[in-house]
Amino acid sequence: MVTAYDYTSALLVERAGIPIILVGDSMAQGMLGFEDTLPVTVDDMVRHTAAVVRGTRSAFVIADMPFMSYQASPEDALRNAGRLLKEGGAQAVKLEGGRVVLPTIRALTGAGIAVMAHLGLTPQSVHSLGGYGIQGRSSGAARTLVDDALALEEAGAFAVVLELVPAELAAEVTRVLTIPTIGIGAGPSCDGQVQVWHDLLGLSLEFTPRHAARFAEVGEAIQDALERYAADVREGRFPTDAQTSHLREPVDLGSRTLSPEAAG
Ligand code: KIV
Repeated sequence: MVTAYDYTSALLVERAGIPIILVGDSMAQGMLGFEDTLPVTVDDMVRHTAAVVRGTRSAFVIADMPFMSYQASPEDALRNAGRLLKEGGAQAVKLEGGRVVLPTIRALTGAGIAVMAHLGLTPQSVHSLGGYGIQGRSSGAARTLVDDALALEEAGAFAVVLELVPAELAAEVTRVLTIPTIGIGAGPSCDGQVQVWHDLLGLSLEFTPRHAARFAEVGEAIQDALERYAADVREGRFPTDAQTSHLREPVDLGSRTLSPEAAG
């Protein structure tokens, strides 16, 4: 699984044969320039999910439910998840939290909406967690996380993301659940892995988390192309004759006919 936030990226994920796309609220940072995911709105999610879905033929598209689109009540959650499916075209939604979101998961799954859960580091709670640190380190916190995971499965979640938890804890959750675990910074024992588009491709220009491997340096490639383009324009190497030959026809301007030479 990989995140994607627009049409072209979705086409590339499809071509790469990755089966699940998460339209993550991590778009806050890489796409929208925010410091955390809290400002993302349901309208943002609907717009970007629809773009991803237009680029998708077979990948399963999951849309994140943004901060405060589901926390206030299961009714809010139903209305907003409904928009992500009806207007965005997502096949499932993801939301963060443990036992506190059980009534919401029951309401959503009861309405036929597939729900992915998210435990460990839950970025929408960054301020109450006190930062982006590893979760579930103490034995009490680890036990709570395992119990939360079991309760989420029981409530109907079809999978659970485990973000930034010790590898041994992720392995234990994976062992006790029958639904799949998808890890990000949770070690190798999860059933699947998810990475954020900008981290994976070297587009996180300011900061890449330690758990992310950069599989390409697309940011450097884009910057290099932009610099060469700008230099070629400044120095008259672009556009070339080959790129403009089809434009070199006489132009009839009514009373005056400009020759190609006169037209420049
Ligand atoms: O928004 C996101 O990209 C996520 C992943 C980190 C799982 O929730």
